[in-house]
Order: sequence, then structure tokens, then C-alpha cells
Amino acid sequence: MNVGIVVYSHTGNTLSVAEKLAQGIRASGHAVQIVRIEPVDSNLQAKPPVKLQSVPDISTFDVVVFASPIHGFTLAQAMKAYLEQLPDLEGKFIYSYVTQHLKWAWMGGNRGLRIIETSCKAKGESVRGSAVIHWSSPQRDEQIQNLVKHLIVF
Ligand SMILES: Cc1cc2nc3c(=O)[nH]c(=O)nc-3n(C[C@H](O)[C@H](O)[C@H](O)COP(=O)(O)O)c2cc1C
Repeated sequence: MNVGIVVYSHTGNTLSVAEKLAQGIRASGHAVQIVRIEPVDSNLQAKPPVKLQSVPDISTFDVVVFASPIHGFTLAQAMKAYLEQLPDLEGKFIYSYVTQHLKWAWMGGNRGLRIIETSCKAKGESVRGSAVIHWSSPQRDEQIQNLVKHLIVF
């Protein structure tokens, strides 16, 4: 399988999880690529709408993981901007995860995952598995290990 991890990460947390996930995927014998979503203006206070530097081509991936931080109890604006131009996903295996500081998924994580789910459904595929990593949780490393081991089922 050819796996693409599409990541937006402002301070590096979500990206660090993507790197661990990519290692795990590689170790199980699959090809994996991390593709970054980067806004033109990285200042989070910049006036919306968020413009992206480029829109990664995900057409060659069989499996796509969408990953983003939670900002202001919802999905980060840059990931929302990316999802607005999402191509057709039909036939792909889709997964997602978000990272958030707070320990409770109802403080943004669940909402963020729902936005990803709705966007993917609109493009023809459901999300097969998802996770929230709580950065301030004492169980953070365990949550990441769990994600690496169990998020993607080939
Ligand atoms: C502007 C801003 C808003 C945030 N809002 C939330 C929030 O509503 N809930 C939460 O749990 N964490 C919130 N956080 C924390 C981030 O979601 C968390 O640190 C995340 O892991 C950052 O990921 P990144 O390093 O990949 O950017 C916020 C962070 C920033 C910078």
C-alpha cells in the first residue's frame, strides 16, 4: 500500500506523531510519505480566509491519513482550508487524528474529527479510524503508541 499522511502542524506536535506513525508503517513494509499543509501566512492571528502555499497531490495514495491540531475548540483553519478543496477520495482508505492540549476530546478533538469525517464523506469515503492525542495527558506516549499500532488496519 502507498500511504500518505497529510499533516498541518503549527508547533510540531502533530508532525512528531506523523513521523512515529510513518516509522511504524514503514516497519510493516508499506510505502509512506508525509505531506505538509503550510499556510502562506503562519501567523495564527492572520485575517481569514487562510491561503495555502500549495495543495499536495494525494491521487497516488491508496491510504490517506489527515492530521491536524485543534485550535479554539475546532479544527485548525489551515486544515479546514485544505479540506475545502479536497479531491475525490473514492476507493481510498481514510484515517484521521488530531492533537489537542486539553485532556478531554469534547474540548475540540471530537469536533475536529467530525469536520474531517464530513469533508471525506462529501468526497465519497468514510473515515475508517480516528484518534485524539491529548498533549497534556500523562498517557500521551501510550496514546501515540496506540495510534501507531492500531489506527491503520491494512
Ligand atoms: C491558537 C491555538 C488554539 C488552541 N486551542 C486549543 C483548544 O481549543 N483545545 C485544546 O485542547 N488545545 C488547543 N490548543 C493546543 C493545540 O491543539 C496543541 O498544542 C496541539 O498539539 C498543537 O499541535 P501542533 O504542534 O502540531 O501545532 C491550541 C493551540 C493554539 C496555538
